[in-house]
Amino acid sequence: MRLVIFGPPGAGKGTQAELITSTWGIPHISTGEMLREAVASGTELGLKVKTVLEQGQLVSDELMVSVIEDRLSMPDASTGWLLDGYPRTVAQIATLERVLGDQELDRVICLRVPDSLLMDRLHKRGIDGDHGTKRSDDGDEIVRERLKVYKESTAPVAGVYREQGVLAEIDGTGTIDEVFLRISDIIEELRG
Ligand code: AP5
Ligand code: MG
Repeated sequence: MRLVIFGPPGAGKGTQAELITSTWGIPHISTGEMLREAVASGTELGLKVKTVLEQGQLVSDELMVSVIEDRLSMPDASTGWLLDGYPRTVAQIATLERVLGDQELDRVICLRVPDSLLMDRLHKRGIDGDHGTKRSDDGDEIVRERLKVYKESTAPVAGVYREQGVLAEIDGTGTIDEVFLRISDIIEELRG
């Protein structure tokens, strides 16, 4: 199965992706996590993107081409994947289509969460961290910037997938388990 989990910062993409992976064994590919790992290990890519991440801006589409191509060509991605954080611009949709070739994207699961709740969730994580780790982009001001970037550059991606008939929009509010149940319905239907 080839899935995208989509939504604004704090929508719960990573949280739900972990549950999907542990339930159905679909490899979770998070471009945000890949970039943070690159920064932490000081690779050439990491050095290039460190400031961009800290400012809440998007890494350029050009740099992201090889990131996604290389990752999706790994053996564990051959039978399916769950993409989290990609595609994030309309240009990245085209790159993904090229990588897909004649393979189909089954569904883009879009989490709808009001801005005030996104801000609350990320504010809390900015203070407490998650699993003992803090992110350099969870300060309130950077979160506001990430939301702005989402609205300008990323939200249009949903429109493209809606037109293609692969967008599944779900309510991302409520408890983690409640959201997961809504996602489970979609995946079980796809599994037939
Ligand atoms: P990325 O890592 O993708 O971050 P993001 O999209 O900004 O979103 P988050 O990871 O913060 O939120 P999430 O939706 O995963 O929510 P989570 O489950 O964590 O990208 C980071 C950066 O990398 C970008 O800004 C950009 O610079 C760069 N980048 C990445 N991909 C790129 C690309 N393709 N092109 C260019 N640049 C790229 O949940 C958030 C919090 O809420 C957690 O604390 C969680 O515990 C809590 N929570 C979740 N669900 C619930 C719930 N139902 N109830 C209560 N709390 C909840
Ligand atoms: Mg995430």
